[in-house]
Amino acid sequence: MKEDGREFKIALLGFGNAGKAFAALLWDKLEEIRKNYRCSVLVTAIATGSRGCLINENGLDLTRALNEIQERGHFAAENPDASTFTSLEIAEKAVYDILIELTPLAIFSGQPAIDHIEAAFHRKKHVITANKGPIAWDFKRLRRLAESQGVKFCYETTVMDGTPVFNLVEDTLKLCRVTAVKGILNSTTNFILEELTKGRTYDEVIAEGKERGFVEADPSLDVEGWDAAAKTAALLNVLMDADITPDLIQRKGIEGITTKQLREADSNGKVIKLLCRGMIQNGAVVGSVGPEEIDKKELFASISGTSSVVTITTDLMGPVSVVEHDPEILQTAYGVLSDLIRVIA
Ligand SMILES: NC(=O)c1ccc[n+]([C@@H]2O[C@H](COP(=O)([O-])OP(=O)(O)OC[C@H]3O[C@@H](n4cnc5c(N)ncnc54)[C@H](OP(=O)(O)O)[C@@H]3O)[C@@H](O)[C@H]2O)c1
Repeated sequence: MKEDGREFKIALLGFGNAGKAFAALLWDKLEEIRKNYRCSVLVTAIATGSRGCLINENGLDLTRALNEIQERGHFAAENPDASTFTSLEIAEKAVYDILIELTPLAIFSGQPAIDHIEAAFHRKKHVITANKGPIAWDFKRLRRLAESQGVKFCYETTVMDGTPVFNLVEDTLKLCRVTAVKGILNSTTNFILEELTKGRTYDEVIAEGKERGFVEADPSLDVEGWDAAAKTAALLNVLMDADITPDLIQRKGIEGITTKQLREADSNGKVIKLLCRGMIQNGAVVGSVGPEEIDKKELFASISGTSSVVTITTDLMGPVSVVEHDPEILQTAYGVLSDLIRVIA
């Protein structure tokens, strides 16, 4: 196919695990994108919190950016594209068509990602985010703003990385009304519960999870169910048109679960998992997060380690389940890339 001259410029806010993996994947797929979608894509700005910022409206050298961060831990002062812009200034002033929001999750506010996204929409720019904060805290308002500005708002990666959840409902389950959702969406708690059942101590399990990179330095937001509550809020806001925030999700963590309880469940043919649920009660969408016993014969009992699952129940299709098996950072990068294709296709 011949390229038709369309060009999309990307501003990337956040260049950590997800940002770097996306940049590497984009670099790898540029030619395929050019051939299949007849357009070129270039990154014109990259912001970090403390490692510098790069801007060039004609396109940054992504390989150089990745190498500098890899080798020095920050962008080089002598990089000709080095800039002192903040992430918000990039959203407000840089030359781009698509803002990609990959800054860390602020679980109790969704900021500053909400401000970044709003600034992009005010300038009629498309937004892709892997940061669930804005979807959990301010989804309806942001979606309305995107619609009124005639731009796209994509957030597939916020729940289960690149595994289709939101896009599955939007693209494939057309005219189906979602009546309930149920999921295992927090890998840290899933891993802790499994390992405690084997007789290991909480400290041993946390130390291994940190070493393997999927347990945060402070795991309390996972253990107390806050991360799962944010994902539940995001699911309910998008799939069930709720206007709910993580603090309104009825929440119980796994901190009170003992090895004795896990062993007892095991000997009764059950496992304990942290379940996220959403349903309609008295005409309103409500959500909950909490540990529940599940029969070992059920699909949810087989979701181990860092895998996750969501079952979406609709009026026309009944329950449909999607499982993500042992995700790596490539599946996060792919989620962002698949949203990029939604914008440019
Ligand atoms: N990693 C995954 O597998 C995954 C999966 C799904 C969704 N997500 C979501 O994707 C987002 C990024 O995750 P990550 O794993 O890449 O996190 P990360 O490794 O901690 O990287 C975060 C990046 O954002 C930068 N940053 C921090 N504050 C910023 C600000 N105010 N403006 C601009 N940049 C800022 C950081 O810079 P400094 O290093 O200088 O602080 C860093 O470059 C999070 O919202 C996360 O929940 C991640």
